Amino acid sequence: MSENYILGIESSCDDTSVAVVSSDFHVLSVKTVSQTSVHRLFGGVIPEIASRNHLAWVIPAVDAALKEAGKTKDDISAIAVTNYPGLIGSLLIGVSAAKGLALGWKKPLIAVNHLNAHIASAFLEREKRPEFPYLSLVVSGGHTSLIEISEDERTVLGETMDDAAGEAFDKIAKMADLGYPGGPIIDKMASTGDASKYKLPYLLKNNNKYADEIVFSFSGIKSAVKRFLDEGNVDMPSLMASFQNRIVELIERKVKLALSRKKYTAFVVSGGVSANSAVRKMAENIASKYGLALYMPELKYCQDNGAMVAAAAMPDFFKGNFSSLDFDVAPTVRPKIHG
Ligand code: KG4
Ligand code: ZN
Repeated sequence: MSENYILGIESSCDDTSVAVVSSDFHVLSVKTVSQTSVHRLFGGVIPEIASRNHLAWVIPAVDAALKEAGKTKDDISAIAVTNYPGLIGSLLIGVSAAKGLALGWKKPLIAVNHLNAHIASAFLEREKRPEFPYLSLVVSGGHTSLIEISEDERTVLGETMDDAAGEAFDKIAKMADLGYPGGPIIDKMASTGDASKYKLPYLLKNNNKYADEIVFSFSGIKSAVKRFLDEGNVDMPSLMASFQNRIVELIERKVKLALSRKKYTAFVVSGGVSANSAVRKMAENIASKYGLALYMPELKYCQDNGAMVAAAAMPDFFKGNFSSLDFDVAPTVRPKIHG
C-alpha cells in the first residue's frame, strides 16, 4: 500500500508547530517554535505577541518539517490545520498559511478541532487505535473534559465549571512566584514534598452536591492554597505536592464515576497536563484496575504540536471529507467546517 503523508499545522495558542505524519501514524518530523521564553516575561500568553510570532515562524516551520522528513510538497497528500478552539489571532495565522499552501500546492485541506488533535496525540507511533466507544480525558491549559467517543459521535460527559487543570497549575505557580508555565515546575517540585502535610478541600465547600455529577472544579483548591501562601512560611514542595495530589484525586474520582456508569474497553488520556507524573500514574492504575487499554501520548506529544493535528485529520482524509477554502476560525464554538 502506498503511504500517504499529512502535513499538520498547529498555531492555536503560543506554539507554532508543523509536522509530517504518515497514514500509519508514524511521525516523520515535528518542528515546534516555542514562545515560552517570551510569554514568561508576562507570566502568561499575550495573544497579540503570539500571533506576530506565528506569522514569523509558520512558513519556516513548514520548510523545516518537510526537510527533516526528507519529503517535498509533492509527497504531501493533504494539509491539516487547527481552526478551533484557541486564540483567534493565533488560529488565523495557521489557517491562512494552510489555505495558502493548499491553494498553491493543489492539495486537499482538513480543518481540525484542537481537542480532537489532543485525543489523537495518544495514537501517534501506535499500531492500534482504541475500540469504540472509548473514554477520553483531555486535561490541558484550556480543557478538563471527560468525553465518550463513538465512531460517529462525541458526548461530553463532564467539564470543568471554572479553571482547566493546567490553568490551575499555572495560576498557583504564578501566585507562589514559581515561574511559568506552572505545570512542569509544580510537578518537579512536588516530587520532593510531603503531600499529606496540607489539608486541601476536595470539590467546592459542599462536597455532596457534586458527588454524583461528572463535573470538575479547581477554584476551591486554588483558594485554599492561596490562604496557605498568604499565611506565609510555607513548605513549598509539600504545599505543591498536596495541591497536585488533590487535583489528580478529583480527576480520578470523576473518571471512576464515568467508568461505573458504562463499560469501556479503552481509556485515552491526553493534553498538556497528561505529561504530569501523578496524572500518568493515576491513568495507569485506573487502566489496570478496570482492565482498559490505555492510550497516552509520549511526553513529547503531550504539549501542542503539529503531529497530533495531522493524526486527528486521518479519519477525514480516508473518508475524503475535505474542507473548502472558506472555513473559518473560532475561539470556542463549532464553526462551519465543511461545505
Ligand atoms: O495542551 P497544552 O500544550 O495547551 C493547551 O491546549 O492548553 O497544555 C498546556 C498546559 C499548561 O497549563 C501547562 O502548565 C500544563 O499543560 N502542563 C503540565 C505539565 N506539563 C505541562 N501540568 C502539570 N504537570 C505537568 N508536568
Ligand atoms: Zn492544547
